[in-house]
Amino acid sequence: MKNKKNRAISPEFIFSSGPLIPVLVIDNADDAIPIAESLIKAGISIIEVTLRTSAALNAISKISQQLPEITVGSGTVLNHQDLIRSQDAGAQFAISPGSTPELLKAGSKENIVFIPGVSSTSEIMQGINYGYTHFKFFPAEASGGVKALKSINGPFPNIRFCPTGGISTKNILEYLSLPNVSCCGGSWLITEDIIRGKNWPEITRLATHTLNKTQQTYK
Ligand code: 3PG
Repeated sequence: MKNKKNRAISPEFIFSSGPLIPVLVIDNADDAIPIAESLIKAGISIIEVTLRTSAALNAISKISQQLPEITVGSGTVLNHQDLIRSQDAGAQFAISPGSTPELLKAGSKENIVFIPGVSSTSEIMQGINYGYTHFKFFPAEASGGVKALKSINGPFPNIRFCPTGGISTKNILEYLSLPNVSCCGGSWLITEDIIRGKNWPEITRLATHTLNKTQQTYK
C-alpha cells in the first residue's frame, strides 16, 4: 500500500479539504478503517485522530497505509515528541489544543504540517511570529465562539481558523459563514456510543447530513 507520509501538503490544503474535520477518539485501532471508510462514503476527505488513547498512533498508521483517499492527522499534540510520533505513524498533519514556544518552534521545522491551537489574540501574535497563518481556535464555544472570531478578524484579516470545541450541526453554519473560518472540527459524527455499537452507517448518515447542510455556506 502507498504510504502517504511524505506527500507534500500545506495548511491551505488541510483547511480546504472540506467544511468539517471529524475528530476521532479511538480505543481500538481495528475500528479505524471502518470509521474512516464510513466518512469517505459520505464524501469526507480528512480526519483527525486524537493522541488521547494508546490506540491512536496505530489507528493513524492503518488509515495512512490503507486509505490513501483520506488525509489523516493527529490531534491533542502536546509537545515535540508527539509531533515526531505523529509523523512516524504516517500522519500528514498535526493539531494542538494550545501553543507553547517549544511546539511552535518544532512545528516550523519538522516535516509535517502543524496547526497550533489558540484561544487569544496574544497566542495568535505569538504564532504569527513563528510564521503560522492557520490555527485551530479551541475551545471555540467556550472562548467566545462566533462573536470572538468576528472581532479577531479586525486586527488579523489574513489569518484563518478551524474552530473546534462545542461545534455541531446546530452552529456549524454560523462559523463557516465567517470570512476567517475555512473549516470546523468536531467529534459529534463519531461518538462513543456509535463506536461501541459499531454503528458505521450512522457515521455516514451524520456526515452526509452535515455536508448537505453546509453545501450552501461552504466556500
Ligand atoms: C478536540 O479534541 O479537538 C475537541 O475535543 C473536539 O471538541 P468537540 O468534542 O466539542 O467536538
